[in-house]
Amino acid sequence: MAIQPQDRGQIIERAVKIREKAYAPYSKYPVGASLLTGSGEIFDGVNVENAVYGMTICAERNAVFQAVAYGHRKFQAIAVASENAGSPCGACRQVLSEFGPDIEIYTVDSKGEVVLETTVRDLLPDAFGPEDLTAV
Ligand code: THU
Repeated sequence: MAIQPQDRGQIIERAVKIREKAYAPYSKYPVGASLLTGSGEIFDGVNVENAVYGMTICAERNAVFQAVAYGHRKFQAIAVASENAGSPCGACRQVLSEFGPDIEIYTVDSKGEVVLETTVRDLLPDAFGPEDLTAV
């Protein structure tokens, strides 16, 4: 099912807005993400850094984990906002991929301009997924 234009606009707007809440004192690279569930609900996330740098969580995974905690397993799209519309990292691609290759991804800059519009499948082809474990 195609993403409704108003939903697309809303997650883009929310990703830009929630980015203000990012905790990124070390990288100074705040990121906001807004995830549209299959049922049309929206969950936001930000990157949360830590003095132990490796404990940092990205905005995208934060949004996914929150949505899952509230019972969601189907996702339509995610908007990711950063200064320069950076692309989701490998770990976030893998986590999104767990929930489906068709999730749309919009990377947007700090003004909400969409720079890249793509899918999980295109960003992570031939991903390792749940079906790969059925042989075990
Ligand atoms: N970051 C994200 O939140 N999402 C990404 O996909 C790329 C990187 C964060 C992690 C870290 O807090 C900062 O951006 C710099 O890497």
